[in-house]
Amino acid sequence: MPAFRTLDDANLKGKRVLCRVDLNVPVADGKVTDATRIERVVPTLREIMDKGGALIVLAHFDRPKGKVVPEMSLKPVAAALEDKLGRPVRFVSTDWREAPVVNAKPGECVLMENTRYHPGEEKNDEAFSKMLASLGDLFVNDAFSAAHRAHCSTEGLAHFIPAYAGRAMEAELKALQAALETPKRPVIAIVGGAKVSTKLDLLGNLMKKVDALVIGGAMANTFLLAQGYSVGKSLAERDLVDTAAKILESAKTSQCAIILPVDGIVAKEFKAGAEWHDYGIDAIPADGMILDVGPLSIDRVRSAIDDAHTLVWNGPLGAFEIPPFDAATVAAAKHAAARTKAGKLVSVAGGGDTVAALNHAGAADGFTYISTAGGAFLEWLEGKPLPGVKALEVAK
Ligand code: 3PG
Repeated sequence: MPAFRTLDDANLKGKRVLCRVDLNVPVADGKVTDATRIERVVPTLREIMDKGGALIVLAHFDRPKGKVVPEMSLKPVAAALEDKLGRPVRFVSTDWREAPVVNAKPGECVLMENTRYHPGEEKNDEAFSKMLASLGDLFVNDAFSAAHRAHCSTEGLAHFIPAYAGRAMEAELKALQAALETPKRPVIAIVGGAKVSTKLDLLGNLMKKVDALVIGGAMANTFLLAQGYSVGKSLAERDLVDTAAKILESAKTSQCAIILPVDGIVAKEFKAGAEWHDYGIDAIPADGMILDVGPLSIDRVRSAIDDAHTLVWNGPLGAFEIPPFDAATVAAAKHAAARTKAGKLVSVAGGGDTVAALNHAGAADGFTYISTAGGAFLEWLEGKPLPGVKALEVAK
């Protein structure tokens, strides 16, 4: 069992429960456009209320940097939370300059205004942590996606009142543990996206942990340059070619097989309807851009997935926003979902564009676990300790 307390260990009846969730959701024209993060925390919130807790929800929205920025109010999110929860939510508007008086009765739900309105929040200021702690008897953290931040409401609070992992946090930690800490081998990682520069630590950590690493997306182009191929006008970080070469060398030492594209879908422009052709990686035209990995490469990715018992996926394999450059991402995602459904694969994905790409492929439901975390998922892949998770372990 992981070393953190869960709701199973908490006596919630009659207690004021501060629950940190991540409500940093997309909002347009005052309406939440993707409620996935809200849906994920509903079971925890309902459980706290059903077990007789007086629920006080803490969350941040955007980055107001310690000031009251009206456009970054959580108010529009309160309505979406109420809708998903199916119970009344009382919004307490406060700029946090004074300790708010919060009266919540057992079974009630109160949502507090953006914690980042307070200048102490992001500094993990002890006085603000104590002020938050004074509002509740227990702290439940259900915000894995904010756990890479050592802020008062994600970390500091856990030092002043008993802290527990919420159900979404618990599920996330279990899934991540099954994927990289105690995985069924062989383990394969698929890493895509535009830039190697943003994923250096991630690649370094993954290659020590996985048996095979598929590199796709525009970041693969930098590795192809390091192998001496020409990539025409493709997106690539030419100043990182030496770094990419070193990564390929250290993969050999780590006995991690690197799987790079052997062919690419090439067009002269990245736009809908652009004429495209499939070329071998040694024949990319000088005026072309690689926008997706080609069919031979897709076959290699599929068979690498077949060889694996565990898959960790971060980042699309091609420019999936415009078909047909989504073909590799869609094919690999569908294949991974089918293997998972057949009970042959444990598949965990998250970070950045990954969820959007897997949703686009219609494959997200087939994965064992999809993380809604961005930065936190990446930092976990990098092997960094997450302060919000550490604080829960310490509290045991
Ligand atoms: C996220 O959206 O990834 C989390 O809510 C964290 O937000 P932040 O990057 O502003 O800390």
